[in-house]
Amino acid sequence: MEIARDARIYVAGHRGLVGSAIWRELERRGFTHLIGHTHAEMDLLDGGAVGRFYAREKPEYVVVAAAKVGGIYANSHYPAEFLFQNLQIQGNLIHGAHLAGVKKLLFLGSSCIYPRLAPQPLKEEYLLTGPLEPTNEWYALAKVAGIKLCQACRRQYGSDFISVMPTNLYGPNDNYDLQNSHVLPALIRKFHEAKAGNAPTVTCWGTGSPLREFLYVDDLARACVFLLENYSEEQFINIGSGNEVTVRQLTETVSRVVGFGGSVVWDSTKPDGMPRKYLDSSRLFALGWRPQTDLETGIRLAYEDFLRKFAPR
Ligand SMILES: NC(=O)c1ccc[n+]([C@@H]2O[C@H](COP(=O)([O-])OP(=O)(O)OC[C@H]3O[C@@H](n4cnc5c(N)ncnc54)[C@H](OP(=O)(O)O)[C@@H]3O)[C@@H](O)[C@H]2O)c1
Repeated sequence: MEIARDARIYVAGHRGLVGSAIWRELERRGFTHLIGHTHAEMDLLDGGAVGRFYAREKPEYVVVAAAKVGGIYANSHYPAEFLFQNLQIQGNLIHGAHLAGVKKLLFLGSSCIYPRLAPQPLKEEYLLTGPLEPTNEWYALAKVAGIKLCQACRRQYGSDFISVMPTNLYGPNDNYDLQNSHVLPALIRKFHEAKAGNAPTVTCWGTGSPLREFLYVDDLARACVFLLENYSEEQFINIGSGNEVTVRQLTETVSRVVGFGGSVVWDSTKPDGMPRKYLDSSRLFALGWRPQTDLETGIRLAYEDFLRKFAPR
């Protein structure tokens, strides 16, 4: 169902990687009444503040792209914060949306919700069929609870709340902090610094053989707006690119885009991680949606954004 261009749409987390891309896409599509509040303006852990916000600004559509996000290090050092804060943020936003009579809500999960040993490609029905990956189980558990809360609101109250599970994302407004970032932004920074310092080599972890899937965040945003208008099911839905690359191919592409002239050394004493992580996106593709940005183009756009922010001329 097409959303009116003047509908009140609240994007929680609109300054983050995902939220900012969804905001850009909504603007590009001509939506005129977007609502966003920074963390400093409204702490989503504060249920009272969220309730007052809903009563005051009466959003008709809500996108939940706010979350406490981090890598393995942060997850393993702050498990209580990851579990509690994510339960609290999503609980306040989803339950608050029900109380405020929001027409439709889209909740963002993550592919880490799937069991560690689930078969690949990962199909939606593999949820809760086995133990989670222990390095991020706190975060994943909160995300599973968020999916379930959307489903429960649909069953009990008839709320049109949907959930999506994106694959690995990258693009403008990514996090380039080496201790906290995901593999692709970390590689962009590493190769950029090696080039700037005229280093002859870049050392990467493992063997380079694991397979990974990446989606440019503007493609994710297009998928989210498409699903807001065209999907109203209890079943959450995977969002992937449908393309896999080896970590070695990924590093070669980053190296080429950055213009690094040296070579890559593989430190095989370091772990490779999961051999393969690939979402089955056939449910989404069957609705007619396809990504538009190939990996090299996406990395080029992400690197331009990195240069603007971290290495302005
Ligand atoms: N990045 C990926 O590869 C990826 C892949 C799959 C799924 N996702 C999902 O997409 C969602 C967004 O991720 P992201 O990568 O966009 O993360 P992000 O860049 O860290 O953005 C998260 C946003 O939430 C805000 N936030 C966090 N705690 C808050 C609080 N207590 N009150 C108000 N705002 C708060 C943050 O603001 P501050 O920075 O000011 O705290 C930030 O703007 C998450 O649910 C994540 O699981 C991401």
